Amino acid sequence: MNTTSSNATVIAVGNQKGGTGKSTVTVHLAAALGLAGKRCLIIDLDPASGSTKHLGVPVDSFAGTLELLTGDDAIESLVITKDMPQGVSLIPSRPQLSEIEVQLSRYMDRSRLLDRAIEEASATYDFVLLDTGPSAGFATTVAAYAAAQWFLLTAFPHPLSLAGLDEAFRDIADVRRLRNPNLEVLGVLLNNVDGRARKLRNQVEATLASIAPGRLFRTFITQAVAIPESSGRGCTVFQLHGGQQTRTAHQFLDLACEIVHRITNRDAFLAGTLPAGATTHDENTSMKLVA
Ligand SMILES: Nc1ncnc2c1ncn2[C@@H]1O[C@H](COP(=O)(O)OP(=O)(O)OP(=O)(O)O)[C@@H](O)[C@H]1O
Ligand SMILES: [Mg+2]
Repeated sequence: MNTTSSNATVIAVGNQKGGTGKSTVTVHLAAALGLAGKRCLIIDLDPASGSTKHLGVPVDSFAGTLELLTGDDAIESLVITKDMPQGVSLIPSRPQLSEIEVQLSRYMDRSRLLDRAIEEASATYDFVLLDTGPSAGFATTVAAYAAAQWFLLTAFPHPLSLAGLDEAFRDIADVRRLRNPNLEVLGVLLNNVDGRARKLRNQVEATLASIAPGRLFRTFITQAVAIPESSGRGCTVFQLHGGQQTRTAHQFLDLACEIVHRITNRDAFLAGTLPAGATTHDENTSMKLVA
């Protein structure tokens, strides 16, 4: 159960289905928040190292999440800031993270694994984004769900993936009951949308109506070749030449805006009374996120 006193907003990005855009969304959301002047820490909690690779950090070159969770290393000795998007720091992952279960004392409560890191991060960062792997039972996923204040679900617009929404929300209900009653669903983000946006949104709204009304983000991320291209170059779309003007960049800035709006007006949002409000970023000063 999360008992840390954190000033940073901690968001777990998750979906136990693979390839729904968890890592893509983590790095681009951090970059968008960073452009708006927020200080963001990404902790890559996946042995497959999605965020680490996307941001061009060679895996196996740096100590990172494994040391953070099993040792006493300070965050500042583990973060990578070189060549990161503005305002973004990364604690990288590598495949050895999959051995964490073996390295942890059997007496260590998996739910508390991230407490120290988040306590420490809250002195420096406005946001901590936790990129989780596609396995809900893995120690670092358990730790992320137990430590986060918010859960952001990335959904891939495929019927099979959408059918899993029910299951994802049952998991969140279990986490709230058994590990972290403070965990709230920040939103469901449709990613990789390819032109059937309206029909798809209606379908998802209908599915969510009974389990999580009002939680679908107005913003969705369209399928864009710039995303794999940026990943291939080890950066975000924002860092590509002219990238800040692309539709993808604007969508992530809108998402950041919507998220800040929800978090700033937490009580109304959770009560279901928050008007959608200012959910598009300020075109002239993308530095400013209007709450
Ligand atoms: N909006 C998009 N447009 C085009 N390609 C995308 C988009 N979002 C993600 N992708 C691509 O889809 C693939 C899966 O995305 P990503 O790695 O972010 O998913 P994930 O949920 O983190 O996967 P895993 O469960 O394996 O960690 C990547 O190759 C990524 O570049
Ligand atoms: Mg990933």
